[in-house]
This record gives sequence, C-alpha cells and structure tokens, in this order.
Amino acid sequence: MRVVIQDNYEKMCQWAANYIQDKINEHVEFFETRPFVLGLPTGSSPIGVYQELIKKNKAGELSFANVVTFNMDEYLGLPREHDQSYWYFMHDNFFDHLVDMKPENINILDGMTDDPEAECARYEGKIASYGGIDLFMGGIGVDGHLAFNEPFTSLTSRTGLRDLTTDTRIVNSRFFDNDPEKVPAKALSVGIGTVMDSREVLVLISGHNKARALAATVEGNVSHKWTCSALQMHNGAIIACDEEACGELTVDAYKYFLDIEKKERL
Ligand code: GLP
Repeated sequence: MRVVIQDNYEKMCQWAANYIQDKINEHVEFFETRPFVLGLPTGSSPIGVYQELIKKNKAGELSFANVVTFNMDEYLGLPREHDQSYWYFMHDNFFDHLVDMKPENINILDGMTDDPEAECARYEGKIASYGGIDLFMGGIGVDGHLAFNEPFTSLTSRTGLRDLTTDTRIVNSRFFDNDPEKVPAKALSVGIGTVMDSREVLVLISGHNKARALAATVEGNVSHKWTCSALQMHNGAIIACDEEACGELTVDAYKYFLDIEKKERL
C-alpha cells in the first residue's frame, strides 16, 4: 500500500487529480480497444478533486470522451432529482461541468429500483462487460466504511443492498436538515470485493475526524470491522491523505511514508 501525505486538503486533492489525469492520459493508446474505466465516490472528500479535474478538462488538458464511470453507491428510495441523491450530487458537482463527458458513459446504481438484487447484478455485469475498473477513487466514513460497506460487511462482498448504521445516518444527517430519520436507512453499494477487483484503488482520507479510520486502513489488522482495511490486500492501493488525518498513525509509519513518498509532496 502507498500512503501519500500532503500538507492539507487542497494539496491532497491536487495530487489525486494529477494522478487520475496521468492514468487517463497514459491509457490513450488503448482507447481504440477499450475506454478508461473510472470508479467514483460521493461525499465531501472528493469535491476538491472534482474541481481540479473540471479545471483540467476545461483547459483541454484532460478529456473524458473515452472515460466510462461507475459510482460507488446510491441511497435506496431517493429519486434522481432529489438534491441528496448521489445521481444529483455527481451531476451537480462533476458531470455537468465537463465539456466532453458522454451521458451514456455514466453509470450510477438506480436507487428507485423495485428489484435491488437485479439492479445490483446488472451493475456488476456492466462493470465486467468493460473488462473491470481501471482505477476506483473512493472516500471512507469515520467508521472506515468504503462505499456503503459498513463495519462487518464481508470483505468479499459484491454489489448489493446495504443497511446503514445509525452512526452513518447521524454523520450524513448534516445533508438532511440534521435529522438522521430523514437519511435513507438503506443504500445500494458496490461490494468490497468489487472494489478489490479494480486494477488500482485511490482512497482520499482528510481531516481529524478520519484519523482513526486512516490508522485502521494502514496499520490495523485486516478485519471486516474496518472494511477499508481490506485495501492492505490490494496490490495497487494508494491512500492520499492530509496531515490532519495522520494523528493516529504511529510515528514510525508516518515517517516511513513521508520518506518513501517524498517526491510526491506538493
Ligand atoms: C458516505 C458515502 C461514502 C463516503 C463517505 C465519506 O457515507 N457513502 O462513499 O466515502 O460518506 O464521506 P465524506 O467524504 O463526506 O466524509
């Protein structure tokens, strides 16, 4: 696992956006045969990365014409036009601002499906039809959930229906009038196994409130209690984080990553 520590949130986002840009641009020679397949998250963590990617796209430095995207998750029961649906979030914060993203290349789980099992199987099938995901960008919850894979979700889980914990509903209630009851109790989410099948995974971890989760991801035991810890078993996992999130790392781990990744410091 690589851990790239930046001074602050802005630099973490710049670094992540540069990394994604390089990966898409390196793929250019394969565009004839297959598009670049990018997994994407919602939440506060990726917003700065989306802003950087939009800037690059508008400046003509990065094209999304040959990029297919798959989002991590979606609340069950929220229609697309609900301002807290992840469909709405993605269009509002990212897709609507890109000059060459093709709508038919955007994949987001359908939160209004009346057959979640079939919808999730369709999603897995569609990912497979593209030959898998090249790079999955993610964020994590304060309890270490990756996508909506809450503590004690199987580390081999596939896309499916998930129950949200009360803790997650409380954390996410900041977007629902601070009322946890208004936060949907269920969501559709890619599984940990789905994320692990991606060629690379890039997870953003920022701020003091994620310090325990970062330590669990990097230094904890691999355990379904912290589903993010599965990334220790991935051969292409990168954590991009800021200094604030490093508060619970051991000093030797912190120094190791600063040293080994010193060329990456912006
Ligand atoms: C939600 C999403 C996750 C996201 C997490 C962290 O629960 N389902 O995919 O990673 O929140 O969000 P934030 O980046 O706002 O802390």
